[in-house]
Amino acid sequence: MCGIVGILGNHQVAPLLVEGLKRLEYRGYDSAGIATVNDGRLDRRRAVGKLANLSDLLVHDPLAGRAGIGHTRWATHGAATVANAHPHRAGNVVVVHNGIIENFRDLRAEMVAAGHSFESETDTETVVALIQGEMAQGKTPTESVEAVLPRLHGAFALCFLFEGEDDLMICARKGSPLAIGHGDGEMFVGSDAIALAPLTDRITYLEEGDWAVITRKGAQIFDAQNRRANRAMTRIQVDATRIEKAGYKHFMAKEIAEQPVVLADALKHYVADDGNSALQALDFSGVDRLTLVACGTAHYACHVAKYWFESLAGLPCDIDIASEFRYREPPLSDKGWALFVSQSGETADTLAALRYARDKVAKVLSVVNVPTSSIARESDLALPILAGVEVGVASTKAFTCQLAVLALMALKAGRDRGRLTAEEHATHIADFRLLPGLMNHALSLAPEIEKLAEQLAEAQDVLFLGRGQMYPLALEGALKLKEISYIHAEGYASGELKHGPIALIDSRVPVIVLAPRDHLFEKTVSNMQEVMARHGKVLLMSDAAGVTEAGAGCWRTLTLPKVPDVFAPILYAIPAQLLAYHTAIAKGTDVDQPRNLAKSVTVE
Ligand code: F6R
Repeated sequence: MCGIVGILGNHQVAPLLVEGLKRLEYRGYDSAGIATVNDGRLDRRRAVGKLANLSDLLVHDPLAGRAGIGHTRWATHGAATVANAHPHRAGNVVVVHNGIIENFRDLRAEMVAAGHSFESETDTETVVALIQGEMAQGKTPTESVEAVLPRLHGAFALCFLFEGEDDLMICARKGSPLAIGHGDGEMFVGSDAIALAPLTDRITYLEEGDWAVITRKGAQIFDAQNRRANRAMTRIQVDATRIEKAGYKHFMAKEIAEQPVVLADALKHYVADDGNSALQALDFSGVDRLTLVACGTAHYACHVAKYWFESLAGLPCDIDIASEFRYREPPLSDKGWALFVSQSGETADTLAALRYARDKVAKVLSVVNVPTSSIARESDLALPILAGVEVGVASTKAFTCQLAVLALMALKAGRDRGRLTAEEHATHIADFRLLPGLMNHALSLAPEIEKLAEQLAEAQDVLFLGRGQMYPLALEGALKLKEISYIHAEGYASGELKHGPIALIDSRVPVIVLAPRDHLFEKTVSNMQEVMARHGKVLLMSDAAGVTEAGAGCWRTLTLPKVPDVFAPILYAIPAQLLAYHTAIAKGTDVDQPRNLAKSVTVE
């Protein structure tokens, strides 16, 4: 969380910094700020709220300079105020920071005792104060950073500028990602390559513990032991046009609509026309256990995948939330594989879980959207989901593409483990090929869903129910609704309802039942009847057969196309997303940047 950008340029950098921050706003939007060095003088501008507020401020109060750093904040320590906004300054130094300095209280107490006073409540100000302290003793900026970095515990990406230094930027990375961009006589720093995409495609990723001294001539990189380090420069391909709304009102709407196309792309990548799979390199036959770990929506994708790996491949599966997994010390089998799923590939808890598992399992795999991310780079094999850049904070196309890759892996596992014949496998792949068309059909239900959403927007609480592989979909549907419409929503396994949650049911609580007409349909319908007997308002999402059979007495029904049973979770994700989207629109919330959230969660 929090986005960082830094530029040693040949032109005025303020507009470029703001443009870079715009590309990083998905990381947080509680406040934003920039600082520049102009003719040796440091100055800064900061504003609370969205980046637009900083842009407005810069119109009235511009900031000159060809060297600068910028920050968009997701508040951790201290409220969203100007005083807490970055860049933070102490004397001759300014800094922007992503991450958390865990020992900042001790450091701050030590400095307060020595007479230093602080302007903000942040952990970050401690860092800049420490650097200033070293410089006050006569050290150079580089010597000061070198002296302070070992004192900082926690996760951070930092970028510093110094008074009197028009051609110097120092940055450091531990835990949080940081990329250096190479221009022609210009140098850049960014939380990710996307921020730098309009400026350069030549990127060097800093590794854990690295820090770098940057001038317009280039970067000197040092490792955690302060030895000179060579880090490769790669050319990245970021299609800048994919970061536009392309005529849609919101990124989320665009990303929902893109799903048939990106899913077809993923299918093309993983399954050639002759049926051969890009997953050939994986042989699941000797694997005794698969451990899937992720956060949020990606975790729900793992939850669906557990049903697939178990039923299609007979492969025992554990799933876990990364923030729990990393501290639980779970025993892992050395014949097992661990699989980490992450859209951003930078989620701090998922990355830490991967590092925990690395020496304990036979193989570390990841399913990621950003192939250059830390999680991808630290895996034995990273499988891309090929969803394209996802900007909306609520994950949509990444979820269905994660499901697609996981489903194809489960099918491959089924073959490797002798659970699926070649014919059965081919039938599943043929079924899979139907999905983009079925998804288009589901998208065409948007006007109907919009009407439902107008009514849903009046609810205070909503329940989502599903059974079997539709249970994780119920969890995902509830997460989507709550995160962008702020309506309290919970997902339950429909059979679990009578063990407690049914007490919540009354005529004001809409209950959304996700139930294709499959072998579990009748069981789910029984649970639905229990809700209706208590005056619950049921919205049944099913196919035509299901709606005909069980639609009577429901508050509303939504008829989806018939989908091959295995792949129902991929299709039913679309109405769940559309319902959340249109409910949020009806409520007037900020769909792409819901309150308190950030897209890339790089702190614990
Ligand atoms: C919800 C959502 C989050 C993410 C979670 C993990 O819509 O997007 O729950 O799924 O923060 O993020 P990644 O996939 O980047 O690891």
